[in-house]
Amino acid sequence: MRKFLFAAAIFVASIGCTNNQPAQTECCKECKNPVIENIMARRSVRAYKDQAVPRELLEQVVECGINAPNAMNAQQWEVRVVESKEWIEKATEAYKLAAKGTPAEKSMADPSFKNMFRNAPVVIFIGCKSGKYTPVDCGLMAENMMLAAQSLGLGTVCMGGPIGFFLQPAGEPLLKSLAFSEGYEPLICIGIGYADEAPEAKPRNKDVIKYIE
Ligand SMILES: Cc1cc2nc3c(=O)[nH]c(=O)nc-3n(C[C@H](O)[C@H](O)[C@H](O)COP(=O)(O)O)c2cc1C
Repeated sequence: MRKFLFAAAIFVASIGCTNNQPAQTECCKECKNPVIENIMARRSVRAYKDQAVPRELLEQVVECGINAPNAMNAQQWEVRVVESKEWIEKATEAYKLAAKGTPAEKSMADPSFKNMFRNAPVVIFIGCKSGKYTPVDCGLMAENMMLAAQSLGLGTVCMGGPIGFFLQPAGEPLLKSLAFSEGYEPLICIGIGYADEAPEAKPRNKDVIKYIE
């Protein structure tokens, strides 16, 4: 009987950890929650190992991306996964040339500089159609991808900086080679690869959160 009660108590406790009852909040502090751990562990990575990312992992990452919530499920986004080292090198060379004499030139003189995508071996471009909510959709897509990548042991960095170059005349041929459909423009890109650093979390301002009781 004692054994039965013990087993029943464990069963009830385990339900408390997996349903949406208010007790969940307390439970999560004690139980390991892999989703929360994954979110809290993700950090922007700007140093990568010289190690190829398997296509199957990239496929899982982008599949998670297109499963992000998006306004009216209109899915007004396009994704281009650049695995080509030659493409990345070509873009970086053109970027360097265009940046001559600007403050950006200094950062490229750093010995750790490998390419314009924060040294990532693979870059995912997210193309966005103009619209009220489409940038939100693309942002949600990006975060889905980054969290999926994190859970698969990959590091990522979301970048807006390099996009400006592709919208300049110097970047136009490279942008063209990404073959976005008419009406779509890259909004952000995500560098992805095996991390060669483990950055600390940057401080977050909790004062921005208020509860209206
Ligand atoms: C829309 C957007 C654009 C960003 N652009 C760049 C960028 O061009 N270069 C870069 O190194 N990091 C970029 N970041 C990364 C942020 O600097 C980073 O997310 C922020 O400092 C918080 O650090 P964490 O990601 O490690 O938590 C960008 C992030 C977002 C969301």
